[in-house]
Amino acid sequence: MFDHTPIAAASKAELYEELLLQARGLMQDEPNLIANAANFAALVFGQVPDINWAGFYFYDGTELVVGPFQGKPACVRIPLGRGVCGTAAESGATQLVADVHAFAGHIACDAASRSEIVVPLRRADGQLLGVWDVDSPLPNRFDEDDRLGMEALCGAFLAAIDG
Ligand code: SME
Repeated sequence: MFDHTPIAAASKAELYEELLLQARGLMQDEPNLIANAANFAALVFGQVPDINWAGFYFYDGTELVVGPFQGKPACVRIPLGRGVCGTAAESGATQLVADVHAFAGHIACDAASRSEIVVPLRRADGQLLGVWDVDSPLPNRFDEDDRLGMEALCGAFLAAIDG
């Protein structure tokens, strides 16, 4: 049903362009939150190099609760404002953390994680949906290309679930 061949990309920007096309295809005409979140996490985890965790935390009205992901089992609940995820959710800004050990309040789920990117997710009506979190075992793994690429992917995810 879906081609899992690794994407041959000359640059990060090209990888994300191709991933965006695949993500849109995967979620086309499918508004189900859990189905799209699960496939989205599997797609990114399988195609983006040097990552050890990729997944969602959804806001339950009080705190962030882990959703579909790929990687090792993770902490279940994160209060708003706590850790990288809670900071992204509260501030509404993507967090690029080059060295998680230097981020005060970082929540270590997988001890192998060294750097992290977290994109906040807001629905079309402005409600906080949660965050998209990707971890790497390499320090300083994520840059502006990753931020733009991950934000574009999250935009496609939000567009799919909001129909
Ligand atoms: N490190 C995150 C917690 C989630 S795990 O990385 C999966 C944080 O500080 O919010």
